[in-house]
Amino acid sequence: MNVTILGAGTMGAGIAQACLQAGHAVSLFDAQADALAAGRDRIARGLARAEEKGHLGDQTAEATLAALAPNAATLQAAVSAADVVIEAVSEAPAVKESVWRDLGSYAREGPLLASNTSSLSITALAAAAGRPERTCGLHFFNPVAVLPLVEVVRGEGTSDAAMDEADAFARSLGKTPVQCHDRPGFLVNRLLIPYVNEAAQLLDEGSADAEAIDTAMTLGANMPMGPLALADLIGLDVVLAIMESLHAELGDDKYRPAPRLRRMVRAGHLGRKSGRGFFDHGGQR
Ligand SMILES: NC(=O)c1ccc[n+]([C@@H]2O[C@H](COP(=O)([O-])OP(=O)(O)OC[C@H]3O[C@@H](n4cnc5c(N)ncnc54)[C@H](O)[C@@H]3O)[C@@H](O)[C@H]2O)c1
Repeated sequence: MNVTILGAGTMGAGIAQACLQAGHAVSLFDAQADALAAGRDRIARGLARAEEKGHLGDQTAEATLAALAPNAATLQAAVSAADVVIEAVSEAPAVKESVWRDLGSYAREGPLLASNTSSLSITALAAAAGRPERTCGLHFFNPVAVLPLVEVVRGEGTSDAAMDEADAFARSLGKTPVQCHDRPGFLVNRLLIPYVNEAAQLLDEGSADAEAIDTAMTLGANMPMGPLALADLIGLDVVLAIMESLHAELGDDKYRPAPRLRRMVRAGHLGRKSGRGFFDHGGQR
């Protein structure tokens, strides 16, 4: 299949790599030339790692990378031959809406249109493009090369045929799809992020220190890592943004972001990416 991926950041590059490994032809587009170049480098490095680990079968990284099309100059050119378009641009509502309006103008009638959004409504993006039947969510997880799940999200107008195609497409990448309806947080973030938020709340209440809270969940609930270490990995700004979106959309105070989380984000303590979060990761960067 011809797959066009919009946005060459962390997720766009990861999804592109998975598509190339599955034998699809990929066209990658980004509004920023330097982001596009960095995305192409990330894909090349990812494929080299996959080759080292023997994940490419008898293919080489170089041959696999050959199915990545040269950069298209415009979004219109990038989507012109696509069978599947996956939008993975920055999680800013105004940016996403403008990209989806363009998609409605430029994509042919046929292709499956999917968004990798974590927190925006698939139904709203479908409406911006005017293609509700062909639009769904394909929500991959980071790092894409490691995590096997894809949430296949049904918007209000998504057709059964589009859901089937999206499911089959996720399977073609070796992923395991789970289907769900377009509700805030879908499945994983709706369950996971309030759990992480509650750990920040417990810490703020002085119930225990961060180490003890994480130990309780790794040893008492067999979690692979504790909720506060997980928050540091995800990024506290991302956790806060998802809680704010759940709170706004669902209107229930049980989704209120923990004040501790808000204070830490304001202070720039974002977790691993800033060098400091609930735990020290080598000092503030
Ligand atoms: N990072 C994660 O852990 C994660 C996990 C699952 C889903 N997501 C979702 O994936 C999407 C992308 O997230 P990310 O972490 O890769 O972000 P990112 O910031 O790494 O990359 C976003 C890219 O979009 C590009 N972009 C911005 N506006 C654009 C436009 N108008 N046209 C084309 N490209 C444009 C930016 O230049 C940037 O390269 C978001 O919707 C996010 O919610 C992220």
